[in-house]
Amino acid sequence: MLAWYDAHRRHLPWRAGPGERADPYHVFLSEIMLQQTTVKAVIPYFGAFLARWPTVRHLAAAPLEEVLSQWAGLGYYARARNLHACAKAVSARHAGRFPDDEAALLELPGIGPYTAAAISAIAFGRKASPVDGNIERVVARLFAVAEPLPGAKPAIRALAAALVPDWRPGDFAQAMMDLGATICTPRSPACGICPLMDDCAARAQGDPARFPEKAAK
Ligand code: ADE
Repeated sequence: MLAWYDAHRRHLPWRAGPGERADPYHVFLSEIMLQQTTVKAVIPYFGAFLARWPTVRHLAAAPLEEVLSQWAGLGYYARARNLHACAKAVSARHAGRFPDDEAALLELPGIGPYTAAAISAIAFGRKASPVDGNIERVVARLFAVAEPLPGAKPAIRALAAALVPDWRPGDFAQAMMDLGATICTPRSPACGICPLMDDCAARAQGDPARFPEKAAK
């Protein structure tokens, strides 16, 4: 996966270069924006926020109204309120530096298990496992998880966590995200060019798109 990521990773503005660690503020901002919004739509907003508020302390010092108007068009405004509240908490409680472990990140407003794991893996190189819908699909296929969603979520999370390498956990997480977004897509996955093709139980069974199973409505 890491070799595949090095060769095929998407070059996104919040990602650091090879061998570098991303800025926690950049990871935080991008992950909040990417909840419920596509990569393509997020890119210009991410740039505009950083240009206006280059550090978490700048964002914390901004009036909420300005943050909300800069957010206009992204939708789900609760995210912008949480973003601002979190920036204030990081400034007030942590002197403007994001804490580096999941437990401390979870104490911050607006940061749930997914975002805490993403920041700790991607910005701090901690062995954490953020699991979003894309990664859920990749893992459900890799192991041909028979149990339908949403019941299978805890099992899928445990399988995902067991895959995380000691080395480059943040790149591994982003490799899984990229795989889910570009190859292991919901319909017609491109199994013929997938780095996991020889390990994928769903592909071996002949119908990978069947996974993840969904509970009958
Ligand atoms: N979606 C959520 N987080 C992402 C990231 N770090 N890179 C690409 N897509 C994502």
